[in-house]
Amino acid sequence: MSNQSNKLWNGRFSLPTNEFVETFTASVKFDNRMYKQDIRASLAHAKMLMKIGVLTVNELSEIESGMNIILNEIESGEFIWSIEHEDIHMNIEFRLTQLIGDTGKKLHTGRSRNDQVATDVKLYMKDEISEIEQLLFSLKSNLVKLAEEHSETIMPGYTHLQIAQPIILGHHILAWYEMLSRDYGRLIDCKRRLNTCPLGSAALAGTTYPIDRMLTAKELGFDSPCRNSLDGVSDRDFVIEFMSWASILFVHLSRISEELIIWSTSEFNFIELSDSFCTGSSIMPQKKNPDVPELIRGKTGRVFGSLISMLTIMKGQPLAYNKDNQEDKEPLFDIIDTTKGSLKLFSELFAFYYDNDKIKRHHIKFNTDKMYKSAIDGFSTATDYADYLVRNGYSFREAHEIVGNTVSYCIKNELRLDKLPLEQFRQYAPDINSDIYDFLTVEGSVNSRNHFGATSPHQVKLSVAVAKKELEL
Ligand code: ARG
Repeated sequence: MSNQSNKLWNGRFSLPTNEFVETFTASVKFDNRMYKQDIRASLAHAKMLMKIGVLTVNELSEIESGMNIILNEIESGEFIWSIEHEDIHMNIEFRLTQLIGDTGKKLHTGRSRNDQVATDVKLYMKDEISEIEQLLFSLKSNLVKLAEEHSETIMPGYTHLQIAQPIILGHHILAWYEMLSRDYGRLIDCKRRLNTCPLGSAALAGTTYPIDRMLTAKELGFDSPCRNSLDGVSDRDFVIEFMSWASILFVHLSRISEELIIWSTSEFNFIELSDSFCTGSSIMPQKKNPDVPELIRGKTGRVFGSLISMLTIMKGQPLAYNKDNQEDKEPLFDIIDTTKGSLKLFSELFAFYYDNDKIKRHHIKFNTDKMYKSAIDGFSTATDYADYLVRNGYSFREAHEIVGNTVSYCIKNELRLDKLPLEQFRQYAPDINSDIYDFLTVEGSVNSRNHFGATSPHQVKLSVAVAKKELEL
């Protein structure tokens, strides 16, 4: 049994806490990472208490210096976190009282850990989201730069992972950019909606002190206080929303990873990842494994898992605060760490530098010759041939059949479509002219898809310009 004399809520208890219950219910091991936010929120609360006459000017300054000492102790690793004080809030309050005496005991006037923890989590998320925004921005910038560099590079485009039509590599990169741009917009939206301050909701019903919630909300950088105290302490939508955001982001990161993994196989050989982004096999000496994209694809599992945990934690809770909510933190922190780590690595993967005015990348090399060759070898201009026949009077279905027959003739005879002699074309389409060859090149194919949003180099360059403007690059 623990010594209960130190507990901040000890008054109505006659038995000490069971030791394992104490360990089981404590959150300090993981919630202490919110120390900056907890101190910031306490200082705003104290300032407000002074303004409404609950604390004197002197008491406020005692609290401020006590908190300053605590901040230094935590950052230098001297602070003693104790399970006995359950969570970050009570550990800090206990230490404050040790340092400044009875004034420390006044800090909790007009608030509860319920509004305190909701405020801390929101403040913590606001800080983390700002960092995540930066990482996403840098990834997007690197991708735009890559798209610009490859605004004329031809590669095969796929449907069903079968070669479909030639496209521009920059167009493919900009498709990734579009996914991430939607993620960026959703993140800003999530940040905007979480920006209301729970502080002052107190335990659930507000408080009997004439607190100034506008002041604390403003002091902490929130748009306004939460409008309903019951909702203020119990709402965790903002966590769910952020996790949903992260889950969609990871759908994208995982899909991009999958493409990088496929592209780096010896069969595709479209890209080569640098040694520093790969590892070898302990048994097969020839191997170089694309660990980073594989791991990011794998981490998608834990991100989705966190979202499911959080939805499940919330689904049966009656109003207002319940201890269940303490379970929000570990999945939230995990998803934040995973997101930051993955975005950082992804951005780094596409980072560039200049070498004698030539753009270079440290960690990824595009084998553009191989991409071009695959686009040529894969009958990727078959649709262009069909479109040509339609322009020359055939119905689309007739054209489809003629092209199908011609392609299968080429496959049987190991011939390329653009190298097939005119007489062979005429076997299936007797009145065809030699201008057909203008439409069978991959260059002709991409250039002719020249409308808004399509793959022609001209359109890709326009899209790059729009993206650069968006990012103010
Ligand atoms: N450690 C708690 C949490 O993370 C803080 C709030 C506890 N409130 C309470 N009434 N037990 O949610």
